[in-house]
Amino acid sequence: MHFERFWMLPKLLLPWYRENRRVLPWRKDREPYHVWLSEIMLQQTRVEAVKGYYARFLQALPTVQELSQVDDGVLNKLWEGLGYYSRARNLKKAAVEICTNRGGQFPDTYEGVLSLPGVGEYTAGAVCSIAYDLPTPAVDGNVLRLWARLTDDHRCVDDPTYKKEVRAALTEIYPAEAGDFTQALMELGATLCGPNRPPECEKCPCRSLCLGADRGTAEKLPVRAEKKAKKREEMTVFLLERDGDYALNRRPDTGLLAGLWELPHCSGKLSAEEALAYLESQGVRIRDVTRQWEKKHVFTHIIWEMRCYAMTVRSGGTDFTWVSEENVERERALPTAFRQFWEERRHV
Ligand code: ADE
Repeated sequence: MHFERFWMLPKLLLPWYRENRRVLPWRKDREPYHVWLSEIMLQQTRVEAVKGYYARFLQALPTVQELSQVDDGVLNKLWEGLGYYSRARNLKKAAVEICTNRGGQFPDTYEGVLSLPGVGEYTAGAVCSIAYDLPTPAVDGNVLRLWARLTDDHRCVDDPTYKKEVRAALTEIYPAEAGDFTQALMELGATLCGPNRPPECEKCPCRSLCLGADRGTAEKLPVRAEKKAKKREEMTVFLLERDGDYALNRRPDTGLLAGLWELPHCSGKLSAEEALAYLESQGVRIRDVTRQWEKKHVFTHIIWEMRCYAMTVRSGGTDFTWVSEENVERERALPTAFRQFWEERRHV
C-alpha cells in the first residue's frame, strides 16, 4: 500500500544504522536464546535498565537447558527490580517446553517462536528477524510512531488494526538484512524520532521520504488513545527489625508480584498510633518507631501510595519470615515497591 514510496527505506536506513547504532550487549551475537532473552527483557523496559540484567542473567544461566532447570527463587532474584515478573516465569516455562518437546533446540520459524509462552507477535517478529534474518517486522511503540510520521497518518495508532497494517506494509519492503532492518527501525524510533520531544528531522536518514516532515505534522504524530486512569491504593508498610533480622512475607503464587517477597503491610494510611495498635493486634510488640516516610509505586493498572514505618521489634511476629540483611541481599527477590524503603532503612 505504501510500497511505491517506501521501498527505498531499507537503503536509506541500513547504512545509517551501521554507522550510528548504539553498542549494546545483545548486539554482540545472534544466538537465538540471547536475542529472545533480550527482547523479553526490553518489553516495556528501557535499554539502560536492561543492560546489567542481561549480562547477569546470561552469566548465571548461559543456556536454555540451564534456564529450564533454574530454581524459581533464583530466577526471581535475577529479575529483581526489572518489573513484570511474569516475563521471567514465562521464560522458564518456554525453556522447559523447548527442552522437553523440541530436543533443546530453539524454534527457527515464526510460528514456532510465536507458540512459546510469553511471546507475542512483536517479540516473535524481533527474534526471527534478528536471529534468522526472516522478513518478520517487530512493531512496537517506537516503530508505530516512526511509521505514522513517515506516512503522515493521523489515525489512532493504538487501534489494533493499525498495527496489523503497519506490519503488512513493512513486510513488503523487508530487505535480506532483516535483523539489521528491524533494529534500524527500532533505533531510529528510539533516537532521532523518539517520544516526548520534537523529531530531529535534519539528522534523519529518511528525511527525503517523510511525509510528516514534508508537511510539518511529524511533531504532532502519532495520534494516541487516551490513557485510562490508574486505580490508587493506599497502604501502610512495616519495616520491622528484630535483633538484626528483618520481617518479610512471601507473596501468593498467583496475582501481582506472584511468589516474590514483600515487607509486611496493611491497607490504608495509618497514623503512628493506629499502626502500633494494628501491630499489637497481630501479636507484634514494638520497641521503637525509628522513621516514617512515604513513597509511591506505579504498576500498569494500579498506583500504590505507601506510608512506611521503620520500627524495632521487642518480641512477637512469629508469622513473619525473619531474615538477615545479608540473606535479603543474596536470596530474597524484593520488588521495587518495597525495596525502595529497604534501601533507605538507614537514612535518618
Ligand atoms: N527495544 C526492543 N528491542 C530492542 C533492541 N534489540 N535493541 C534496542 N532497543 C530495543
